[in-house]
Amino acid sequence: MATTKDKKGTTAKNKSADSKKSSTKKATTKKKDTAPKSKSADSSKVTAKKGAAKDLQDLFEDGLKDIYWAEKALKKELPKMEKNASSKELKNAIASHLKETEEQIKRLEAVFKSLGKKAQAEKCDAMAGLLDEGKGIIEETEIGAVRDAGIIAAAQKVEHYEIATYGTLAAFAKVLGHKEALKLLLETLKEEKKCDKTLTGLADTNLNSKAE
Ligand SMILES: [Fe+2]
Ligand SMILES: [Fe+2]
Repeated sequence: MATTKDKKGTTAKNKSADSKKSSTKKATTKKKDTAPKSKSADSSKVTAKKGAAKDLQDLFEDGLKDIYWAEKALKKELPKMEKNASSKELKNAIASHLKETEEQIKRLEAVFKSLGKKAQAEKCDAMAGLLDEGKGIIEETEIGAVRDAGIIAAAQKVEHYEIATYGTLAAFAKVLGHKEALKLLLETLKEEKKCDKTLTGLADTNLNSKAE
């Protein structure tokens, strides 16, 4: 024991290796010291992969591919969420957003077309994670008001992700001068915000009180 403490004492900044109290302190200090060392300024700078975005136009197109994948994945999941919801209002809200989502997919295809590009999907890890979480919530709750509250929570996370994404893509489109794309992206952004508001209303008035 004494040897270990002495060893720690020699590497730590504090002095007086003889004192038991100070050797305990040193152990703590040493831990704190080692953590930031592993994150050196050099290792946290990531080298770009092959095919990395060269400019804002590239980043914009990458973002479009991501959200195109995300909307398509959501289109597959929404009917499952609807089936698992109990409240009629929630079922209706999901069903109506499914229709909107189908339109949004077409709208994204129009965005690609306006850029003279073919619509392409690239896996969006964020949406995949959010949808996985949604599945988990359904599995971990009994059918009824509590599951409904969970579905609303999961759906709102999805909407917030979409709002952030479309907001960013619209800003990129504006800077890049893609007027048609901007118009289409703002239309979808409006729908996502409206859907989020509807879900907040459902959570506030119906489900949260029933789920208690
Ligand atoms: Fe959407
Ligand atoms: Fe949405």
